[in-house]
Amino acid sequence: MSGVLTGKVAIITGAGQGIGEAIALRLAQDGASIGIIDLDTSKAESVADKIRAFGVGARTATCDVSDRDQLHAAVAEIETALGGFDIMINNAGIAQVLPLLEVRSDDLERITRINIGGVLWGIQAAAASFIERGIRGKIINACSIAAFLGQPVFGVYSSTKFAVRALTQAAAQEYAQYGITVNGYSPGTVGTDMWDEIDRILADRSGVAVGESFRNQAHAAALGRPSTPDDVAGLVAFLAGPDSDYMTGQSPLVDGGMLFN
Ligand SMILES: NC(=O)c1ccc[n+]([C@@H]2O[C@H](COP(=O)([O-])OP(=O)(O)OC[C@H]3O[C@@H](n4cnc5c(N)ncnc54)[C@H](O)[C@@H]3O)[C@@H](O)[C@H]2O)c1
Repeated sequence: MSGVLTGKVAIITGAGQGIGEAIALRLAQDGASIGIIDLDTSKAESVADKIRAFGVGARTATCDVSDRDQLHAAVAEIETALGGFDIMINNAGIAQVLPLLEVRSDDLERITRINIGGVLWGIQAAAASFIERGIRGKIINACSIAAFLGQPVFGVYSSTKFAVRALTQAAAQEYAQYGITVNGYSPGTVGTDMWDEIDRILADRSGVAVGESFRNQAHAAALGRPSTPDDVAGLVAFLAGPDSDYMTGQSPLVDGGMLFN
């Protein structure tokens, strides 16, 4: 398949399902070969099969993004297999639904290691490789509306997404001298397994019917519907392509009109 990303290679973490999978399929349709990094090997392999159907290369690596050595090794493995890479998408992340009084050290440590550590190690692995190879690459990180607004029971999750937005701004300035751009994407309420789990926990905690929290949250968007993973993939395709070359350090909202800045 030929498109705006023909000849490019994109590595995407957490691409075994949900938003990461939609990004992988969209960038493959735009012509890029895709490296899929995920904890879940069989899901990653099944996305890779779909990608090969577009006539582009696909390679998977199983890894926990919170482990710096594992993530650097996974990126290096895909780089060797696909002959380099030009785009790094640090998408893997987990949710947490906990009132602040209930947060314990293990909760804080786990989400910090995955949501902040996983993005930081991904930024490092990509920047080191881009600088060494003289590639004017693109690094793109998963933020959220929660990167702009802290909300009850999402306080710690939100703090990790504020941190990702901060890392995006800092990295953009550190790597501008190499022609590397660093941006983020900030979805609202996206219909994925992550929101199914959030919805179940909110139903358990508050007694509302399963599905109601998701519907309420989704209808809070001016456009009146929840986001699909493809809505997010459209923004990421723009950030991965040449039309965003003069943009760096930004984490635009793609939330159907929930927050306005
Ligand atoms: N779903 C939403 O409404 C929403 C909104 C805003 C931001 N986001 C962010 O978008 C990203 C993707 O969300 P999603 O809804 O697709 O999630 P999801 O739970 O549906 O999928 C996450 C994927 O990441 C993988 N993963 C999780 N932890 C990992 C780890 N430690 N190492 C490697 N892989 C790991 C999972 O196996 C899974 O394939 C996350 O960073 C999330 O915080 C989601």
